[in-house]
This record gives sequence, structure tokens and C-alpha cells, in this order.
Amino acid sequence: MKRLLSYFYPITKKIPSDVNGVLEITWYNGRKILNSQNANYSYGSLQRILKYALNKIDVSGVQNVLLLGLGGGSVIRTLRENFNYKLKITAVEIDKSIIEIAAKEFNVCACENLAIIYGDAFNYVANFELGSTNKFDLLIIDLFIDNKVPDKFFSPEFWERIESLVAPGGFVIFNASTHSDITSKVMQLIDPLKKTFQFQILDHVEGTNTLVIGHVVK
Ligand SMILES: C[S@@+](CC[C@H](N)C(=O)[O-])C[C@H]1O[C@@H](n2cnc3c(N)ncnc32)[C@H](O)[C@@H]1O
Repeated sequence: MKRLLSYFYPITKKIPSDVNGVLEITWYNGRKILNSQNANYSYGSLQRILKYALNKIDVSGVQNVLLLGLGGGSVIRTLRENFNYKLKITAVEIDKSIIEIAAKEFNVCACENLAIIYGDAFNYVANFELGSTNKFDLLIIDLFIDNKVPDKFFSPEFWERIESLVAPGGFVIFNASTHSDITSKVMQLIDPLKKTFQFQILDHVEGTNTLVIGHVVK
């Protein structure tokens, strides 16, 4: 019923979260989306933005995905449905309310090759026990509080760890900003990493976002 009515007017439910402020689940034109106060978090433009990035890489060889920032899990749906990726995904999320929303509203829960870790992605990456066989072929870094990526995810410390977690031949997709005025910050970030990665910078994706794609050449 809500789906049908949403073609005539959007139907919104508000859910307070300690980490992300007031979140909104909105039925709009027959689809359910998750928004923060100033940004789409999942299943709207955000989903299209990450799909655009996934289309720029070769997903066929990917066997192990690390997703930092679960949100409502829309990129997981994209990987499963549009890229036929059925293998392992580990998702890290700092907000308990979001993990509940992903399960209750979007049917995204820890099952079928999906592990959901509650915690800070920065600490997860810093403390990850790296062996010779548990590196990731694809890391998706999609960490926002409302419309801002916390500064620590631009730090050399974080990126040195990311560099060590990517398998040879693997990819990193970093959703770096919802604004287009961060070129110098991105350039500063990628410069020391150029010996490991070949980079593509995608600007104005969906008219707004800046994405960084890094590929580790074997
Ligand atoms: C844009 S949403 C992610 C959308 C998701 N990737 C999708 O495909 O639907 C950003 C998420 O990053 C999470 N986040 C922000 N800071 C974090 C941190 N330090 N550690 C883990 N998750 C964090 C937020 O709680 C929010 O759920």
C-alpha cells in the first residue's frame, strides 16, 4: 500500500540515531530510500553513484569484499543483483540504529556470505590481523556522517592500512565527498600512494560526488 501511495506523495518515517542524527526512511515513487538530514545514505543517488564506480572496474575476479559504511546496504544489493557477486562481503558500521534499519527495512542482515561488524571502521582497519590469504580484492570506503567524510579517513595512517589490505590486482573505491571542491585534499591523499595504485578520479558523479578508484596492478 505504502509503495502505491508513494507514487502520489512521499511517505517518511523518522528514526533518531545517536551517531547520525535524525534518519529518514522515505517511500518515494515506489521505492524505499534512507536519508540523513542533508544526504541520501542508501538506495537513491548514493546507490547510483557506487554502481557507476563499480562499472569502472572488473568485478569478475573479486572474491572478498570489505565495505566500510554499511548504511542501508544498497551497494550490497547492487553487487548481488547487478554484478552477480555472490561471494564474501564484510561490512563495518559504527551506528547500531543503522544496522537495525538495514535489517528491518531493507532485509540486509548477517547471512549468505555477509558478515556485519559493529564498530569504528578506523579501528577495524588498524587492528585487522592480516595473513597471507585474507586480503581484500575490493574495498568500498563509504563513510559519512550526514554529508561529511570524517577527517580521519583522509589521514596517511588510515590509507597506509588500506594499502596493506588490498590484494594484488585488487581495487579500492573511495566515496570522498558530496561536494566538488576537494580536489587538493584528494591529490594530497593519493600522491604518496601512487607507487601502489593506479588512480582514477571521478568528479561530479550524479552532479555532486567525488570518487577515487585505486587499482593495484599485479
Ligand atoms: C552513505 S552511508 C553508507 C551507504 C552504504 N554504503 C550503502 O551502500 O547503502 C555512510 C555510513 O557510514 C557510517 N559511518 C560513518 N562513520 C563511520 C565509522 N567511523 N565507522 C563505521 N561506519 C561509519 C554511517 O553510520 C553510515 O551508515
